[in-house]
Amino acid sequence: MILFFEIILAVLIVVVAGWILFVYFFTWQLAATFLKGEAPFVPAKAGILPKIAEAMELKENSILYDLGCGDARVLVACHKSQPQAQYVGFEKNIIPYLWARFRVWATGLSKNIRVCQKDFFEADLSGATHIFCYLVPKQMEKLGPKLEKEIENGKKVLSLRFGIPNVAPRKKILLEKENLYIYEKLAKS
Ligand SMILES: C[S@@+](CC[C@H](N)C(=O)[O-])C[C@H]1O[C@@H](n2cnc3c(N)ncnc32)[C@H](O)[C@@H]1O
Repeated sequence: MILFFEIILAVLIVVVAGWILFVYFFTWQLAATFLKGEAPFVPAKAGILPKIAEAMELKENSILYDLGCGDARVLVACHKSQPQAQYVGFEKNIIPYLWARFRVWATGLSKNIRVCQKDFFEADLSGATHIFCYLVPKQMEKLGPKLEKEIENGKKVLSLRFGIPNVAPRKKILLEKENLYIYEKLAKS
């Protein structure tokens, strides 16, 4: 009988903790999106990941930063196409950050993929040879000048769905109804 109550109590604790996490995650998402104008956690569709990796054209010595890496799926997909390269993800939101850390650990890729819980606007991006982002227009507006300052021409920037305002992409590819903007020069057009 005591064991029965212990099991019920354990189930209750797991359910309540799950709900608290769920409510916290969605409140955080709503606040970040509507109050701060930040991209919510909406991962890139699984079907387009190999195409993103292909468009990245990574080499063995490439260093790819994903600005707002979510659950690190883009980094993991790119690692499949170029396992020698180095990968860094910045993620602010604790839930996708922990998920990303778990994914990297579970796939055994910790040597090549590093995920930091950090605001990428506060990070130095000059070490990257490639940048990927899937953000919202307000953030792209702010990111443009930072990339112009920190990323040399010739390095590659790929942005899913929204482009950098007033900067002409070298190429634009349509991936399952989403535009992928590819930049190699960041000077204003
Ligand atoms: C649309 S999701 C894209 C996730 C991932 N890059 C992908 O394509 O699957 C945007 C992510 O950026 C994160 N994010 C938004 N603003 C951020 C910031 N300033 N610093 C770090 N992460 C940020 C969000 O928490 C969210 O997980």
